[in-house]
Amino acid sequence: DIKGFVFDLDGVITDTALLHGKAWHQTADTVKSEWTPELAVALKGISRMDSLEMILKAGGHENDYTQAQKEQLAEDKNNYYKTLISTLTPADILPGMDAFLKELKAKGYHLSVASASKNAPTILKGLGIIDMFDGVVDPASLHAGKPDPEIFAKGAELLNFQPNEVIGLEDSTAGLKSINGAGEVSLGIGDVQEMHEADINFTDTAQVSLANIANSSYFAG
Ligand code: G6P
Ligand code: MG
Repeated sequence: DIKGFVFDLDGVITDTALLHGKAWHQTADTVKSEWTPELAVALKGISRMDSLEMILKAGGHENDYTQAQKEQLAEDKNNYYKTLISTLTPADILPGMDAFLKELKAKGYHLSVASASKNAPTILKGLGIIDMFDGVVDPASLHAGKPDPEIFAKGAELLNFQPNEVIGLEDSTAGLKSINGAGEVSLGIGDVQEMHEADINFTDTAQVSLANIANSSYFAG
């Protein structure tokens, strides 16, 4: 039986995936790596320093910067990103997600957040929904980020549930791999092709509801 839900944040609850992309685009310009739609997709769910490494590699610049310079580039990105998220309000919750969260709470499900972002608590406060969650995984506590299963495994542990008692929600392929690796039911939000590893797929957050989950081929057969 499903007893809980483990949520990715960026791109699932709010459109901050777009803001991460905007800030990383600026970093790519700074280091003269080409910013492409493929790179933007590949960066989803990837930790801050791993994202920077991928951007440097995209332009063949991975050996052009010292560790201290890399840390500065990541800090600059984060400072810009923090200005972008400073104005978030409840109106920035993606379509359908506010209703879905309320539905889950009303039905007694327990919820946690499995985001790689160190900015997750700030964002959840801005959106006015931090109290709906029983726990937020601390990404600083992780040995390995997505696609490693650790973060989603911890999301279920925080709720004291077994992996098969929770549904994990993701908009990234790295995140889906993490959910599947943890042995949880995976719900992918986004392009069917991109989300093909998901047990359940919705193209849009507006479609996410308990009824649509129950009627999905995964549960309804
Ligand atoms: C999430 C986002 C990534 C981001 C990562 C780290 O997983 O999907 O795009 O790079 O968090 O976020 P942070 O806010 O700590 O830099
Ligand atoms: Mg995401």
